[in-house]
This record gives sequence, structure tokens and C-alpha cells, in this order.
Amino acid sequence: MTQFSALFQPGKIGTLQLKNRIIMPAMGTALADEKGKVTDRMVAYYAARARGGAGLITPQFAAVSRDSAFAYTLPLHDDSYIADWRTLADAVHEAGARFSIQLMHVGLILLYSGVVPEGASILVPSMAPWMAPDKPYHELTEQDILGCVEDFAAAAARAKIAGADLVELHACHGCLVSSFLSPLTNRRQDRFGGNVENRTRFACLIVEAIRRAVGKGFPLSVRINCSDGIEGGLTVEEAAQQARILEGAGADAISVSGGLEFWSTLSVPSYPYPDGPMVGMAEKIKKAVNVPVIVAGKVNAELAEKVISGGKADFVAMGRPLLADPELPNKIRQGRIDDLRRCIYCNNCLKSATDPSAGPMSCTVNPFVAREAKYPFKPVAKPKEVMVAGGGLAGMEMAMYLTERGHKVALYEKDNELGGQWNIACALPGKQGYAALTEYLKRWLKKNGVEINLGTAVTRELVLQKKPDAVVVATGAVPLRLNVPGADLPHVIQGHDFIAGRAPARGRIVVVGGRFIGMEVAIWLKEQGKDVTIVTRAGLGEDGIRLEEFTFKTLADRIVELNIPMFLNSTVLEITEKAVVIPMKGRLFRIPADTVILSVGMRPENRLAKELEGLGIEVHMVGDCVRPRDASDVSYQAARLAATI
Ligand SMILES: Cc1cc2nc3c(=O)[nH]c(=O)nc-3n(C[C@H](O)[C@H](O)[C@H](O)COP(=O)(O)OP(=O)(O)OC[C@H]3O[C@@H](n4cnc5c(N)ncnc54)[C@H](O)[C@@H]3O)c2cc1C
Ligand SMILES: Cc1cc2nc3c(=O)[nH]c(=O)nc-3n(C[C@H](O)[C@H](O)[C@H](O)COP(=O)(O)O)c2cc1C
Ligand code: SF4
Repeated sequence: MTQFSALFQPGKIGTLQLKNRIIMPAMGTALADEKGKVTDRMVAYYAARARGGAGLITPQFAAVSRDSAFAYTLPLHDDSYIADWRTLADAVHEAGARFSIQLMHVGLILLYSGVVPEGASILVPSMAPWMAPDKPYHELTEQDILGCVEDFAAAAARAKIAGADLVELHACHGCLVSSFLSPLTNRRQDRFGGNVENRTRFACLIVEAIRRAVGKGFPLSVRINCSDGIEGGLTVEEAAQQARILEGAGADAISVSGGLEFWSTLSVPSYPYPDGPMVGMAEKIKKAVNVPVIVAGKVNAELAEKVISGGKADFVAMGRPLLADPELPNKIRQGRIDDLRRCIYCNNCLKSATDPSAGPMSCTVNPFVAREAKYPFKPVAKPKEVMVAGGGLAGMEMAMYLTERGHKVALYEKDNELGGQWNIACALPGKQGYAALTEYLKRWLKKNGVEINLGTAVTRELVLQKKPDAVVVATGAVPLRLNVPGADLPHVIQGHDFIAGRAPARGRIVVVGGRFIGMEVAIWLKEQGKDVTIVTRAGLGEDGIRLEEFTFKTLADRIVELNIPMFLNSTVLEITEKAVVIPMKGRLFRIPADTVILSVGMRPENRLAKELEGLGIEVHMVGDCVRPRDASDVSYQAARLAATI
């Protein structure tokens, strides 16, 4: 018996035999081309996850009608797309996994995407007071509903021709079918609204129509919410009833997810959520049905094994863990737990997954996501001696990649510990799991015998003494100070110092800065019963690079729930011994403050790079010392740079 023996038992969904209990759920990647055609990059991305050992691969959703298609995603609303899906299916089959296609009408999820394409309507079961008049909502008539049912059936028939082993009906997260299931979004008075049966009728009609289209015995699952994650939304009790009704209509499996993407964040739970927030609810749904149940949401390898061995669900859908490490199933089956690149649920991948304008998709722990063809690195013909200055994420990753390429690397860190700012991030409540990344990197460097020099600052003199062939400057960034009178007073401290336990916060506290760190610090203090106020010169979460929306919403929801006072669009003019001074409507206001915590951004620490100019040595810069950024960008830049040295 291996540690993960339950996960590697074969399982069945209807007539479909799967080699294990690990499913890759649908995740948008924006890897199709502009016209919605498959790309080599997309094929390589899914094939890598199939080779990595997952039993069933579900690519990003397939739009069932033209009005529900997003740019850069693969639709299935006409026969011309069948060949593209066939290409994916063949690649996944060849790599040893089974292949499913998720069918979706976007509905209210268009609100989350932020962009309503020209001429498109947001289809809804019923209008609601919160629907802004400037958005093109369209309440479905019964005739529209029946038309949609036919769209799903036609797309399912195409999915079968394309080589799918299973089709999944997307009925969660606030998409069109999900919005009919939810009492919050479905206020219809006809046979499609009101009680649970009526609200499930649209989904049932689709399941029955798909069944007719694909034939008896063709595997069909339905992905529903176990909870909308918001007051007035779907509860697990109702979800269990809906699961039973859908089973009766012909579903071979119920896949459990949650959340309404424009209102709640349960669908892609980020680090503040506990592990497996939907496992308990999936268990309740499993008790209500006889078909297999699949559960998703922050299920790591160890929890996955417990879920299956404890009979809480029959399969686990592991989304982000398979982005972070496509080889996850193979590694855990082979007992290579220490080699796992664990997802830390930072949600950086979400920023670009559905929005190509946000830059290439990236993952904090796996910069090769969606760039599978570029990895493993090609070894170098002429190894160099490389000095890496700075042992934060950028420096450690550079040391790892350069060693992989065959260079001889010496890593220097001025502090007595590797990790840099990441160690501070890990000290925040909820972010302890972030340490998995630094632990992985440290293990790798140790295992591969990389020379590590702690407590050693790299200087121009040291470089001249060591005479390396190349220096990589990865000296990071330091917190910005506030350029106002009183900013040097002793009760004004940096957020970094507070988090790291180097500076205490007493009495009435004002946090200056309303991006992630400011928000996290304020929540932490308030949860300890402290008197805390946020002041920020822009809106909450604004003023800088775009923040990931699920994490932003999770933190903002908590700030609202905790009733933390906020002064938005308020530029601090002065800090006195007892107050923070801000202007409002031409008057000055004094917010009482015994401690002021600054979280106003970072400044690149790039002095070393300047000192090394003119030495005639190859010098590269990477990470926050170039420009403060998020950690997935740090990893991506490190991987890109390593490929060029
Ligand atoms: C509280 C907090 C929370 C965060 N949360 C997130 C998050 O949720 N998601 C996210 O994506 N990002 C987050 N970040 C940002 C992320 O941590 C950074 O982008 C990333 O760690 C930067 O890595 P780096 O190696 O470039 O720089 P750093 O981490 O700053 O590392 C630079 C290292 O170089 C060392 N050094 C400096 N000069 C020298 C020298 N001359 N010689 C030798 N060593 C030197 C420093 O001591 C330091 O260890 C957070 C940051 C903080 C502080
Ligand atoms: C980038 C991204 C895109 C997603 N797109 C979809 C989608 O198209 N359909 C869907 O049902 N779920 C989608 N999801 C949700 C995932 O399928 C999964 O349920 C969620 O990420 C939670 O599981 P995890 O914690 O294992 O990642 C998406 C998630 C991510 C991270
Ligand atoms: S970016 Fe973060 S959340 Fe996304 S897969 Fe990577 S580690 Fe996980």
C-alpha cells in the first residue's frame, strides 16, 4: 500500500473507466488563437497534464453558441471547430488520459470577464434590481430557453464526434444554467423559476437533450454549485435535491463546485480559504445520489487521498495543483512528494488565464505553464561560473535554472536566511502555505549541491575578487517611505517590519495603503480586536498593477464584513504624534493614530547593478530589483533569463 493508494484505484463514471481518481477540471487558459482555433501551445499544455498521470483531462469550456464565446477560447458552436477539439482529444489520448469536454453558456459570467463583446447580450433567467441599466441584459423567453437546450445538444453531439470520452454540462459559478439553479438569480414566475424542481428544469431539459444527442451509455456529468457562497444563494440542501433530480434526468456523475463569480469567490478559493472548503458539502451531496461525485477546490494531494479513502467523494478535481505541477499524479504515485511543486493558491494564474492582454499566463511555482515546449532547458555548450547576488525567489530560481542548464553557480544572500520578501509574505495569516515554494527551492538547491553563501553581501570588491564569468543581480526591493512631514516619527513603521514581528502596533492604528499588503495587515489587526483604519490615496486595491480579482474580492469582502473604516482617495498630507492628516472637501481632517503602518509600495534595490557597471563582466538583473512585481512574474522572468545565459 502506498501513501496514496486510494487515489490510484481505478474508477468509473457511467461506462467510462478511469485509471485513477484524479481529474483535471476545466480551466480557461486563453491559449486558443484570436479566431478560437487550437494552437500548438494549447496542445502541449494539455498533453503535458495527460502525460503527468491525471485520469481525465477537461480542457477549458466549449461555448455552445456564438453569443457565449470569448476571444482566445475554443468554442463548439459549429462543426468547423470539431477538428480542433479532435486534435486536443488525440493528443490527450496519446498521452494516456481520457478526455472530456465541458459545455457552457456564459450567462452572468460575462460580468466577471469585465468585457461584454460588441453586440452580445448577457442572458439571464430574470431581471434583478442590481442589474445595471447600462449593461445589455436579456431575460430568456421560454422559446429562448428551448433554443439554448438545442444548442447544448448539438454541441454535445459534436463533442462526441471530436473524440470526447465524456461531456460535462457547466452548471456552476453563475453561468447561464447555474443562474437558473440559483434562487438569487432566478426570480422567474413560470415553470423555470420558483421551487427547486422548477429551477432545475432548464438543466434537466439540457441533460435529457444531450442524452438523446449522444445516445444511451455515453458518459455525461453535470457540474453544479454546492453553495453559491452568498446569502440568499443556493444552499447545500437545495444543491443535494438538484443533484438527485439531475441524476434522475440522466447524469452519470455530479461534479461539485461553488460560488457565483461576480459575487463570491468560492469557485477558485485562494489562500485565505481553508483547504477543501467544499469537501464537506460534496459529502452531503454524495449521500443524496447514487452516481459518483467529484469535488474541487483547494484539494491538495494529502487531502485528496483522505477524500477518496474516507468516501467523501469518488473523484477529486485538481485544477491549479495541475497547473503548478503537471507531473503531480506521477510524482505522488512514485512517492516523490519532495519533488512536488505545490500550488500555493496565490491565484496569480488567474490574472492572465482569461485575459491575454494581461500578458502570458504564468504560475508562481511553475513558470513553464503554457510554455511546456520550452522545458526542460537545453544544456549549455560552455558552462560558466555565475555569481547570483540575492537569495530571494528570483535569486534562488536563477540558481536552480542555471544549475539545470549546466552552469557552476554560487548563490549569495546578505541575510542569514534564504527567501527575501517571501519570508515576510509567509508570516501573514493564511499565507503560511506560501512557504512550500521556498522549501521546495531550498531542497532543490541542497540536493543539487549548489554553493550557498549566507550572511554575505555581494559588493563590487567581492565580484572583482571572485572573477565570475557572469553576475546575476537579484537584490529585490525595499519598502517605500512616505514623503510627508512626520513620516520619520517613531510610531510610523513599515508593514514589512510589523508583519515580520520587528515593530509592534499599539493603540489606534492607521494603515496607509490599500493594496494587498495594506488590506491583509488591516484584516489581521482587526481580527485581533485592534482599532484599525485604512487610508489610501486611491480606491481600495487600485494604484498600481492590476490585482487578481478573486483574491481582491476575498480580502475586500472580509474588510467590509469586519467593518474596517476606510478613507479612500485620501492623500496623507502629514503625520503628527497623534494623528494622520488628510484633506476632504477642502478641509483638513485628523485621523487619530498611535501607530501608523506604511504599505505604500516598493522601490527597486539596484545599487549593486550600478556598482558593477564598467567592470567588463556580464551582468544580468532579475526580479524586483528591476521593477517590483508579483511573484509569478519574478518566476517567469527568471526562467526566461536563465534560458539566455
Ligand atoms: C508581505 C508580502 C506579501 C506578498 N505577497 C505576495 C503575494 O501574495 N503574491 C505575490 O505574487 N507576491 C507577493 N509578494 C511579492 C513577492 O514576495 C516578491 O515579488 C518577490 O518575493 C520578490 O523576489 P526577489 O527575489 O526579486 O526580491 P527579494 O525577495 O527582495 O529578494 C532579494 C534578496 O536579495 C538580498 N540582497 C540584497 N542586496 C544584496 C547583496 N548586495 N548581496 C546579497 N544579497 C542581497 C536581500 O536580502 C533579499 O533576500 C509579497 C511581498 C511581501 C513583502
Ligand atoms: C484559470 C482558471 C480558469 C477556470 N475556468 C473554469 C471553467 O471554464 N469552467 C469551470 O467549470 N471551472 C473553471 N475554473 C475552476 C476550476 O475548474 C476549479 O474548480 C477551481 O480552480 C478550484 O479547484 P482547484 O483548487 O483545484 O484549482 C477555473 C479555474 C481557474 C484557476
Ligand atoms: S499561480 Fe498560484 S494559484 Fe495559480 S497554479 Fe500557480 S501557485 Fe497555484
